[in-house]
Amino acid sequence: MKKITIAIDGYSSTGKSTIAKELARHLEYVYVDSGAMYRAVTYFAMQNGYIDAEFFDRDTLIAALPYIKLHFEFNAGLGFGEMFLNDVNVEKEIRTIEVSSFVSKIAEVSEVRAKLVEQQQQMGNQKGIVMDGRDIGTVVFPDAELKIFMTASAATRAQRRYDELKAKGDDVSYEEVLKNVQERDYIDTHREDSPLVIADSAIEIDNSDLTREEQLRIVLELVLRFGK
Ligand code: CDP
Repeated sequence: MKKITIAIDGYSSTGKSTIAKELARHLEYVYVDSGAMYRAVTYFAMQNGYIDAEFFDRDTLIAALPYIKLHFEFNAGLGFGEMFLNDVNVEKEIRTIEVSSFVSKIAEVSEVRAKLVEQQQQMGNQKGIVMDGRDIGTVVFPDAELKIFMTASAATRAQRRYDELKAKGDDVSYEEVLKNVQERDYIDTHREDSPLVIADSAIEIDNSDLTREEQLRIVLELVLRFGK
């Protein structure tokens, strides 16, 4: 079967990366977590003191963008590419609630988006890619053969992310996670540059009550339908 481009967008913690990774494994496609790139830039900004709870030095971050080098390295054990920031593996560091609390502010900056979108488009130029994020079907790959928009209730999403963080040993409360999910959804859907919207031809899937297996079956059927 001819290789296609699959764009998966949606609100935070809708399980986009879970389905994207499973799809990539099944189809032997490359999986790219575009959110990891925004998280890595956020981590860089935090490390350099450009952002904290009270303050964001946008201009200095923009000036520093040429010094931010991002790449993914495939980890065969995990089955996906891990995020490297200036040649250091930051896969763990970028998944904290602290990074989550700043990332949507960083993702509002057009200069950051332009840099990351260009790199994402290069990664997809051979097709055979599954990418998840907020603007994949609208901005990064507007010509993707298959576009999926994932949704689930805010409470379901917060519970999933809370369980995930707890399992990793993070000391967070459910309320804190719910607040973060809601705040990010608000900023992501209201920002000026590339807001999260449902792409024209996207197929919406609400997975609040779907098991992983059901969701994978539905999406694989879509691949067969749209991949020809
Ligand atoms: O895993 P989760 O869905 O919570 O978020 P993520 O995919 O890791 O993305 C983190 C944040 O990066 C989002 O809340 C957006 O603010 C931003 N992002 C974006 O603006 N555009 C993308 N293509 C991907 C992520």
